[in-house]
Amino acid sequence: MHPTLNIAVKAARRAGQIINRASMDVDKLRIDVKQQSDYVTEVDRAAEAAILDVLREAYPAYGILAEESGLAGTSPDSEYQWIIDPLDGTTNFIHGMPQYAISIGLAHKGVMTQAVVYDPNRNEIFTASKGGGAYLNEKRIRVAKRTKLDEALIGTGFPYRMFDHIDAYLAIFREVAQKTAGMRRPGAASLDLAWVACGRMDGFWELGLSPWDMAAGTLLITEAGGLVGDLSGEANYMQTGNIVGGNPKIFSQLLQIIAPHRTAKLPA
Ligand code: IPD
Ligand code: CA
Ligand code: CA
Ligand code: CA
Repeated sequence: MHPTLNIAVKAARRAGQIINRASMDVDKLRIDVKQQSDYVTEVDRAAEAAILDVLREAYPAYGILAEESGLAGTSPDSEYQWIIDPLDGTTNFIHGMPQYAISIGLAHKGVMTQAVVYDPNRNEIFTASKGGGAYLNEKRIRVAKRTKLDEALIGTGFPYRMFDHIDAYLAIFREVAQKTAGMRRPGAASLDLAWVACGRMDGFWELGLSPWDMAAGTLLITEAGGLVGDLSGEANYMQTGNIVGGNPKIFSQLLQIIAPHRTAKLPA
């Protein structure tokens, strides 16, 4: 395992311990509302602090983009940047729904090179290194082989913060629902992407995500033989926040459904 990936795994496990301990008593959580339907708890912050401690000790010169602290102490000259979601799926966590994860990616000159998505409920750790494949608990994983859209299980996330895209989203939703075997909204984007990587879902799309939701998961998918893109199938999803992913056949069929719904309001 690459040394940076090893450190990222250590940081993710450290955060997982904090989250697991807190999950036993979610009723006592202090919850702040960032904006409507957007919550942050003391656990998100504690998990992030633990991750930053581990990463900074090992790689003090690397840049950091983390959900709760932003561009924390970023060295502007660093070619390396950690992209961190300390608790992806906070709403599930608050409700005691065991579907959330810790996501840590490392980018080199803007290209993802290392990825960890850790599911502390199932003790499943998904890892990938650029060019080195993707793994679940150290066993190689690949995207599903399913090629027919009408047999595919597709994940998504509902827009719930900015409703600018809701009409386009619902139009896509209707068509995907009619043409696939089923749809799921598990509630933690990084884990959704990891589940595409290991073949539990055949494809996924969501609008309006943040870089820390996607950074690690996208490398898992590409290293597992899948494809990710924005709504035009191009590589700008980290900028637009709109993402489509899947095994290669399902990815292109999903794009055929989604791309025509692009508008001035919903760019790629
Ligand atoms: C959220 C989850 C969710 C997605 C939201 C994200 P958070 O992350 O990934 O699945 O639909 O858009 O914001 O805030 O729980 O880390
Ligand atoms: Ca959040
Ligand atoms: Ca997130
Ligand atoms: Ca989060």
